[in-house]
Amino acid sequence: MIFFDNVSKFYNHNSVALKDVTLKIRPKEFVAVVGSSGAGKTTFLKLLIREEEPSRGKIFLDGSEISDIARGNLHVLRRRIGTIFQDYKLLPSKTAYENVAFAMEAAGKSDEEIDEDVPQSLEIVGLRDKMHNFPHQLSGGEKQRVAIARAIVNRPDVILADEPTGNLDPINTWEIIKLLQKINELGTTVVFASHDKEVINMINKRVVVLDKGMVVSDKENGKYLV
Ligand SMILES: Nc1ncnc2c1ncn2[C@@H]1O[C@H](COP(=O)(O)OP(=O)(O)OP(=O)(O)O)[C@@H](O)[C@H]1O
Ligand SMILES: [Mg+2]
Repeated sequence: MIFFDNVSKFYNHNSVALKDVTLKIRPKEFVAVVGSSGAGKTTFLKLLIREEEPSRGKIFLDGSEISDIARGNLHVLRRRIGTIFQDYKLLPSKTAYENVAFAMEAAGKSDEEIDEDVPQSLEIVGLRDKMHNFPHQLSGGEKQRVAIARAIVNRPDVILADEPTGNLDPINTWEIIKLLQKINELGTTVVFASHDKEVINMINKRVVVLDKGMVVSDKENGKYLV
């Protein structure tokens, strides 16, 4: 369970990124966090992985307050939460396989586990046949699928996706959405941030609308009409 308890974030005096946000996300939920540019979507995600600290309020993951985690233990939090970004953030000098393996090495996994889990992850995203390609030898959609394989390989409880389809055409966008839905059906919580109404309305899941840092709407099977 993710719980934002009256959370506000001010980056400086005159910039309110999030204001009095209270929100629960249950395990295995698929939630779209939407809103126009500057609404606070990325800030919401950054607070969850403690890339930023709340100015007010508390954030809990499964009952533990995120702010209480010692700096030296942040890797444990970040291993529980996989992240996917608009610009993929793949290492250009590593193959698809090596990019995914790197996440496992960083998590201290054994070579045996890596040999077993990396191909399995790339299989889930449909890229087993291209696992030795470098990022420049992959299309945008394929690069994002490698990033998804990397995000899921350590079996996180939660996936945060920040505008993951922002650089993709409609066909690839739909592929990525279907893949995130499949991962969600396999038991992972997915929090999907986007400003794209068409994408959100394809998903037909819970939609939380942010406007100027405030939650202005929160509906199951919601639409993003504002
Ligand atoms: N590091 C920062 N320092 C100061 N202000 C920031 C910082 N990061 C974000 N902001 C401000 O906080 C507000 C929310 O930004 P945020 O990036 O969370 O919005 P967003 O909804 O993700 O927007 P977009 O759709 O453009 O990605 C904006 O007004 C932004 O200018
Ligand atoms: Mg953003």
